[in-house]
Amino acid sequence: MSRSTASSAWARSIAEGLPDPLPPPQPLDPSVDHAPARRQVLGRAERELALRNALRYFPAHQHAELAPELAAELARHGRIYMYRLRPDYEMKARPLDEYPARSRQAAAIMLMIQNNLDPRVAQHPHELITYGGNGTVFQNWAQYRLTMKALSEMSDEQTLVLYSGHPLGLFPSHADAPRVILTCGMVIPACGSPEEYERLAALGVTSYGQMTAGSFMYIGPQGIVHGTTITLLNAGRKYLGTTGAEGLAGKVYVSSGLGGMSGAQGKAATIAGAIGVIAEVNPRALRKRHEQGWLDEVETDLERLLSRIDEARRARRAVSIGYLGNVVDLWERLAEASLAIDLGSDQTSLHNPYAGGYYPVGLSLDEANRRMVADPDGFRELVRASLCRQVAAIRKLAARGMRFWDYGNAFLLEAARAGAAVTRPEGGFVFPSYVEDIMGPMCFDFGFGPFRWVCTSGLPSDLHETDRIAAEVLEEMALAAKAETREQLLDNLRWIREAEAHRLVVGSQARILYSDEEGRQRIALAFNRAIAQGRVTAPIVLGRDHHDVSGTDSPYRETANVRDGSQVCADMAVHNVIGDAVRGATWVSLHNGGGVGWGQAINGGFGLVLDGSPDAERRVRAMIAWDVTNGVARRCWAGNPGARFAIEESMARERDLRVLLPSEADPALVRDALARAESER
Ligand SMILES: NC(=O)c1ccc[n+]([C@@H]2O[C@H](COP(=O)([O-])OP(=O)(O)OC[C@H]3O[C@@H](n4cnc5c(N)ncnc54)[C@H](O)[C@@H]3O)[C@@H](O)[C@H]2O)c1
Repeated sequence: MSRSTASSAWARSIAEGLPDPLPPPQPLDPSVDHAPARRQVLGRAERELALRNALRYFPAHQHAELAPELAAELARHGRIYMYRLRPDYEMKARPLDEYPARSRQAAAIMLMIQNNLDPRVAQHPHELITYGGNGTVFQNWAQYRLTMKALSEMSDEQTLVLYSGHPLGLFPSHADAPRVILTCGMVIPACGSPEEYERLAALGVTSYGQMTAGSFMYIGPQGIVHGTTITLLNAGRKYLGTTGAEGLAGKVYVSSGLGGMSGAQGKAATIAGAIGVIAEVNPRALRKRHEQGWLDEVETDLERLLSRIDEARRARRAVSIGYLGNVVDLWERLAEASLAIDLGSDQTSLHNPYAGGYYPVGLSLDEANRRMVADPDGFRELVRASLCRQVAAIRKLAARGMRFWDYGNAFLLEAARAGAAVTRPEGGFVFPSYVEDIMGPMCFDFGFGPFRWVCTSGLPSDLHETDRIAAEVLEEMALAAKAETREQLLDNLRWIREAEAHRLVVGSQARILYSDEEGRQRIALAFNRAIAQGRVTAPIVLGRDHHDVSGTDSPYRETANVRDGSQVCADMAVHNVIGDAVRGATWVSLHNGGGVGWGQAINGGFGLVLDGSPDAERRVRAMIAWDVTNGVARRCWAGNPGARFAIEESMARERDLRVLLPSEADPALVRDALARAESER
């Protein structure tokens, strides 16, 4: 760290932690998108508890000044964000060496936290929400300030412990231990309901970390552009018989949501070659994607929109069109029209249906935001009715040949709860989830999942070099690959070659691709060598999102294609985090929730700092391998054929890997044995 930067205002502010005297109160800044007010769920005694909980962070002499203000925040927003403490320095990832820190690993974590809260990256930056409507980095600004202070002071012999954003403290550990161990939203299983979440979050004792928000691993919608591109290409392969080379030329994909993750859909559709039509009710969200260049066109009139789709389809021209309006209006108009729609999905935030995740048709955005607080029961009814109309229109198009899938946003779950016609009499849903049909059997079972990295120098030239290195590794692998994995390697090779041209970087200099266990290790080791040789000028942070092979137990999403009855068990995700922690991760996280909602998933993540050292190489070999083979072994045990192939390949490469393989029982033999046992009873 240079002396001049150490003394800069923002570095001083980090060292200060909580300011004393307090800064002046801050009015809400109208230039950023704010989270909707949350429902008032606390009774009088609990509101007192919430306020006492919040004041714990401050010295007693500040309580009289803060208490009325924080009480007003609770009354107005349903949460206490401590807006007054939001720092006045620019929130963004800075080059690693500028961080005031004793530990480089801790500095890298600070960089990732600031990136997660960068207004260019985060959905509701002033409420410390990165994506998904409620994906929280910290519950309040005191937690942010105290965490940054702790990170700036800690040594490589300490571990910072975070409970749902609350910095419990620095604890003595050792150099091989993670620098941060964090959990978000862990509750005893009996308290896994969404109502409990609302109450505990309002009390200020839990947070919804989603996946990469609470674990500081969000890299802007680029991550999701890649995942969505891969999903669309594989959906085309599976449902429409398209090939990797032609992509989705001339095919129409319709969906909703231009928010944190859903905002990637337009861009992904055009990268895949399709015509992407995405409805969004929030003009701010739509404008953000349009200004970023991730959305080619904006349309407010349904008739004009229909002719634009028709034109683009005839010309087989890849284009992304944002429709400013409710997706139900769009689906109903499309269902009436004769236009062919090939692929459809939904990416409203239905993991959070009644508190701003889904806007029912017929209400303006403002009116919906008002009603969900003023009349929650009435609002619920409107959401349910809207979902029923949406499903009816989608089913009409599906009957004409459109292939629709649930995008892991709890669409089918909430539609079923609303009474919409999405369930089969024999059980299960009439539409598949994208993991069940596409990502699970085509990617996760083979160990293919998100592998992301951040160049901590902040230099585009470093990112360029890492792209080149990753492409070189994938190219070598694709040449030697078996048929089972070649197509996936080629999709990702094409992606990484074109990634720079797509100008996907928002915030930190980050990149993502999908790879299997071998590829993730080989790319990581090649990066580490490049840092050692000075070809990459500063450390690289490795990580992933949780939409992956091993990190997430989520029966409606990541583990939707695990069919041995264990898809509701969370042993894999918990083991993953513990296993990563003991194999050298720089930080690890374990969360309740994720995109499908509180109580519906357990997911874990990691960050690993590569600094070019032999020590970093040792960590890569141990940790990255475990981070993939854990889930592949579990999927193999569940009987998934792709996973059996992949784990046998891994065992052939690594003699210390010895995984128990299942013996597939003959179904006829099982049926006979049961019939005999029943007849003899
Ligand atoms: N992209 C992926 O690959 C992926 C993967 C898994 C899950 N998901 C899920 O997708 C959902 C969306 O994620 P996000 O981060 O974009 O959330 P978000 O809240 O940032 O965005 C959702 C957007 O949908 C809009 N919206 C809500 N109701 C609407 C309606 N009726 N018509 C039109 N627009 C409407 C909202 O205004 C918002 O901008 C989440 O549930 C997430 O977990 C996405």
